[in-house]
Amino acid sequence: MNNVLSVNNLSVNFDVQIKKNFFFSSTATLKAVDKVSFNLQAEEIVGIVGESGCGKSTLVKAIMMLSDGHIDGDITINGKNVRGLSAKELKEVRKNIQIIFQDPLASLNPKMLIKDIIAEPLKVYYPELSKAEVMSRVFDIMEKVGLNKSVANRYAHEFSGGQCQRIGIARAMILNPKILICDESTSALDVSIKAQILNLLKDLKEQFKMSVLFISHDLSVIKYISDRILVFYLGNLVEVASSDDIYKHPKHPYTKSLISSIPGVKKEGRIILQGDIPSPLDLHLGCPFAGRCFKVQERCRIEKPALEKLSENSAVACFFADK
Ligand SMILES: Nc1ncnc2c1ncn2[C@@H]1O[C@H](COP(=O)(O)OP(=O)(O)OP(=O)(O)O)[C@@H](O)[C@H]1O
Ligand code: SF4
Ligand SMILES: [Mg+2]
Repeated sequence: MNNVLSVNNLSVNFDVQIKKNFFFSSTATLKAVDKVSFNLQAEEIVGIVGESGCGKSTLVKAIMMLSDGHIDGDITINGKNVRGLSAKELKEVRKNIQIIFQDPLASLNPKMLIKDIIAEPLKVYYPELSKAEVMSRVFDIMEKVGLNKSVANRYAHEFSGGQCQRIGIARAMILNPKILICDESTSALDVSIKAQILNLLKDLKEQFKMSVLFISHDLSVIKYISDRILVFYLGNLVEVASSDDIYKHPKHPYTKSLISSIPGVKKEGRIILQGDIPSPLDLHLGCPFAGRCFKVQERCRIEKPALEKLSENSAVACFFADK
């Protein structure tokens, strides 16, 4: 098995101020990511799904070494543990791991021409390249992501959301990274444009032989693009399954509820979760899903289930999972 990324027992905590009254406040620890382990293999697309606030972006920021939280555990990229690397070594690792964000327009500098936005990473990592070489690579990648080179001298605000996302993808891909991270990268797009961008990402993954970590709260999008899916709940990894298996045999009660909420699932099969999404500050003993779980039992309130490996591609963290 050729892992390009391994995350081992990763936790990310934040110190947050809790206001007690007008005069006093205290500091509490918010566990945004709690002892998470998984890997991403060469040329694999792994999807990460979970509700808002479950720690998806925090996890990604930690992997990119951009987090302002307290990090514990190991992150290995292309065989190098990135924790404790010097700034120079980190720059070298970062060349191979690029990210595309949710809001395409906001992530592009409004004062720069498209060609300069796309060329920027190349200029940072390969300052020795001539202007002509840079432009040739910019035009090449623009063509690969479906942008006509005639638009290279325009500004981002002149483009639609889908086109802006193509510009963001071109900028990320120009370094030919081994790993591409997409954090809700299609969530702001219309359905038809979303499908185009998902297909583009699939094509680019084949062409560039890269691996993709694709994050979304939308399980149908995740299912479409991923080979393997990781289900997160309140900072915890609760189920791992192949994309084919997740619809047919969801094992964790939370995964079952997510699948039952996909449009098209019969009404009688729908599982409506009780209660609001709890705050990671309110975590108590036991299973993090206990407060909303339709299968909860006494044991769940006092003991936290570990992620149990069921096969090469599947694992679940639930005492009463449908295995
Ligand atoms: N810098 C920070 N300081 C304090 N708490 C933070 C910080 N960043 C994130 N959090 C908290 O960590 C938890 C996870 O947040 P995160 O943004 O990772 O969730 P998410 O799954 O990406 O959500 P969304 O789907 O809305 O993007 C949340 O409770 C959030 O409030
Ligand atoms: S351990 Fe208990 S509370 Fe947690 S998901 Fe399983 S049945 Fe539900
Ligand atoms: Mg997020």
